Amino acid sequence: MKSILQQTLERKGTDSVKWDGLERWFHLSEDVLPLWVADIDIRTAPSISEALASKAASGEFGYTLFSREAQSAVSSWYGRRHGLDVDPTHVLFSSGVVPGLTHIVEALTAVGDGVVIQSPVYPPFHELVTGSKRELFDAPLKIVEGRYEMDFDALEDAMRHAKMFLLCSPHNPVGRVWTEEELSRVVELANKHDVIIVADEIHADLTYPSFEHTAINKLDPNVITVSAPSKAFNIAGLFASYIICPEESWRKRIIKVQNKHHVLPTPFANTAIIAAYTDPRAERWLQQLTTELEEQMAAIIERIQTELPMLTVYRPEASYLLWIDFSSIPLSSEERKKWLHDEVRLFLSPGTPFGESGDDFERMNIGTRRELLDEAIERLVSQTKRNAFV
Ligand SMILES: Cc1ncc(COP(=O)(O)O)c(C=O)c1O
Repeated sequence: MKSILQQTLERKGTDSVKWDGLERWFHLSEDVLPLWVADIDIRTAPSISEALASKAASGEFGYTLFSREAQSAVSSWYGRRHGLDVDPTHVLFSSGVVPGLTHIVEALTAVGDGVVIQSPVYPPFHELVTGSKRELFDAPLKIVEGRYEMDFDALEDAMRHAKMFLLCSPHNPVGRVWTEEELSRVVELANKHDVIIVADEIHADLTYPSFEHTAINKLDPNVITVSAPSKAFNIAGLFASYIICPEESWRKRIIKVQNKHHVLPTPFANTAIIAAYTDPRAERWLQQLTTELEEQMAAIIERIQTELPMLTVYRPEASYLLWIDFSSIPLSSEERKKWLHDEVRLFLSPGTPFGESGDDFERMNIGTRRELLDEAIERLVSQTKRNAFV
């Protein structure tokens, strides 16, 4: 098979959030390199495109139910890939992972209830809790010998006040694939304090070949999992996601909220989930993609460590997001943003929305062709030299 990452798509001019959003949302000029939002510049697996083309040719685009075949596809995928036994009737459709998390919070907690997160974490985790008028309890991750770990004392303190814990597994932005031991302690604490665990596993299928994702639902039968083939197969714009909720009474409450919000799949969502999760060609493609991502990530980290030694990077164990500490560069987060856009000509995801500790950080998306990443590093090297940030 040819390299997947080297055959990038030209996304500029396709109304892509990542590329065209720079001008439309932030009024930045064309030469700024977009290494931010979490999708990648490649075509999805050819077998998925084929299935969607055949669905398009059918001409049948009426209101659509979440199909039994799609529910079974999720069940077979979790069984095969993660050793988790999923009853297909426990799988609900969701029009995105963030909407799924939001609907679960609305269904299973009340205004004013506590919800725990672990910052730095994907910004919508903060926003969906506060936006739903629940109280946010942060149990920040800690850095131990250059690696992010859970702070179990902080987690237990936060759980004392909370009804729910939103776990990001693998974690965006720090890239940790939580070990079975770590997840067992999470389960133990949540059970002790009667806290519902909701696990966002959207990056799980991009776990690098040298690591192993543990589906936390294996350790506790009541965990609710929210996921999608969207990151693994780069089909985020299809909004084809799902919720696995084994507990019947909770499922009924979630369905009630979903009905209120008119959650229904597009006619392409079933097709995409089935094609991604049941066609062996898609699985082989994914195997190659994760191998290439791990190699590309290692190469980029090496370049940064050699040529930009003032930056500290946290080596991810999954996906394509690299969390970079810029604290040695003497600029505030606002000044750094301006410097990156106006002088370096680079658009990264600023760390501040990930939580207070993210102020000194930027998140770089390495899911594009190598030349663009090399260009980004060269721009950073030349501007750090020019500004004497060395
Ligand atoms: C951890 C995590 N959850 C959810 C999402 C977004 O999911 P969706 O677009 O399906 O709402 C992302 C996207 O970057 C993510 O990183």
